[in-house]
Amino acid sequence: MSTPHINAEKHEIAKVVLMPGDPLRAKYIADTFLTDVKQFNSVRNMFGYTGLYNGRRISVMGSGMGMPSIGIYSYELFKFYDVDTIIRIGSCGAYTKTLKLYDTILVTEAFSESSFAFAQGKCEEDTLPASKTVNEKLEAISKELDIPVVKGKIHSSDVFYRQFPEEILKLAQEKELLGVEMESFALFHNANVTNKNAACLLTVSDSLVTSESTTPEERQTAFTNMMKIALEMAE
Ligand code: HPA
Repeated sequence: MSTPHINAEKHEIAKVVLMPGDPLRAKYIADTFLTDVKQFNSVRNMFGYTGLYNGRRISVMGSGMGMPSIGIYSYELFKFYDVDTIIRIGSCGAYTKTLKLYDTILVTEAFSESSFAFAQGKCEEDTLPASKTVNEKLEAISKELDIPVVKGKIHSSDVFYRQFPEEILKLAQEKELLGVEMESFALFHNANVTNKNAACLLTVSDSLVTSESTTPEERQTAFTNMMKIALEMAE
């Protein structure tokens, strides 16, 4: 079978799919952490792979950047490929000084001014929750692995380059938003309308309030931490 954006058979994709934004990060995860890897998608270079993590099956596929992009791929995976759970593993910009670069965030809710949920399914909410069950599992895994996570609400924004960036920090304070990324709100909405599960782990890659900098090694370790938590969701 095939959908407009994924050229795979149903059985080639696992029930749990990890979604980094960058398809090359999906390839890196498959190459580095999985065995018995089979690539299931290359349409538009949005690479997807299925393999084994410590003997348990899991898939990993790029989502692209922004809600329209993750909206397409997550809907096709949930609706046409019988995927049960999608966990986004991405990066975010910090809105608060209490977050340090490379902290790992376990997203509890995504706030957005985006019209995605309304346009897709007349959903009028501006804040959507992650799956409670999946989040409980991810939190338990993080404790077992001794990798601390910060839990909280994030901003799913449609805009990366803002004309008035100073205004966004007011909104962040008002709505108690930890940081900003560009995908979770659409992912959580698609999980709701298809009765599936979605969650999101984020690594703080930059800060909108400080100008901290770190080394490439610190960066790699931080992303690896997030991946290790998510990979334990393999079945
Ligand atoms: N804005 C939006 N998305 C992001 C950012 C940002 O500053 N950093 C990482 N993802």
